[in-house]
Amino acid sequence: MIIAIDGPSASGKSTTAKGVAERLGITHLDTGAMYRAVTLGIIESNIGLNDNESISEFLKNIEIHFDSLNDIWLNGHNVAEKIRTTEVSSNVSAVSALPVVRQKMVLIQRFIAKDKHCVLEGRDIGTVVFPNADYKFFIVADLEIRAKRRLLDFEKIGEISSLTELISDIENRDRLDSSRDASPLVQAKDAISIDTSKLTIDEQIEKIVEIINK
Ligand code: C5P
Repeated sequence: MIIAIDGPSASGKSTTAKGVAERLGITHLDTGAMYRAVTLGIIESNIGLNDNESISEFLKNIEIHFDSLNDIWLNGHNVAEKIRTTEVSSNVSAVSALPVVRQKMVLIQRFIAKDKHCVLEGRDIGTVVFPNADYKFFIVADLEIRAKRRLLDFEKIGEISSLTELISDIENRDRLDSSRDASPLVQAKDAISIDTSKLTIDEQIEKIVEIINK
């Protein structure tokens, strides 16, 4: 069984996908973490975001996996915290717009989900990665509520940010993610839309589990 959960930044996808996977006892794959890890690797290797040749070379030898706690590892290092910094967040949309990056990530995502029951969350799961997914959901929420959620995430890792800054970052990322040529963020025609603005975490998880159990 493949469950696709797509939606814009900070809409509640991760929390929902994690909760749904726990309730159903199946694998949770955060594909955004993978694009973030690639972005971190490119930044740390001092590769320019326009240097396609070096990026292709970097991707050839990349090793990404998730451990039993669902922490992401890049080339032998646990990067679960590092991928959440402002620097990675402000560059990830540019990196994930590159077709060469997307091709590689989609291959890894399909491989991880192969022969497994899996909840995958991202931007293009229901449209590109698994267009025949058994269930497709598109999660949305008000911009300010999304920014407030991100602010809390940042506080948890000790990063200082402001609501205004986060609103503009999220708007910018949504714009880039929706307008790129390669696999843009778009709701699949057969996806069920869920607005999490006024829902608690438990309610948003319950909504999806209920639909699947039906
Ligand atoms: O979900 P999260 O906000 O961590 O994703 C970070 C970024 O990764 C997104 O803004 C988007 O640019 C990219 N992404 C993507 N396709 C996915 C998942 C994430 O392009 N399936």
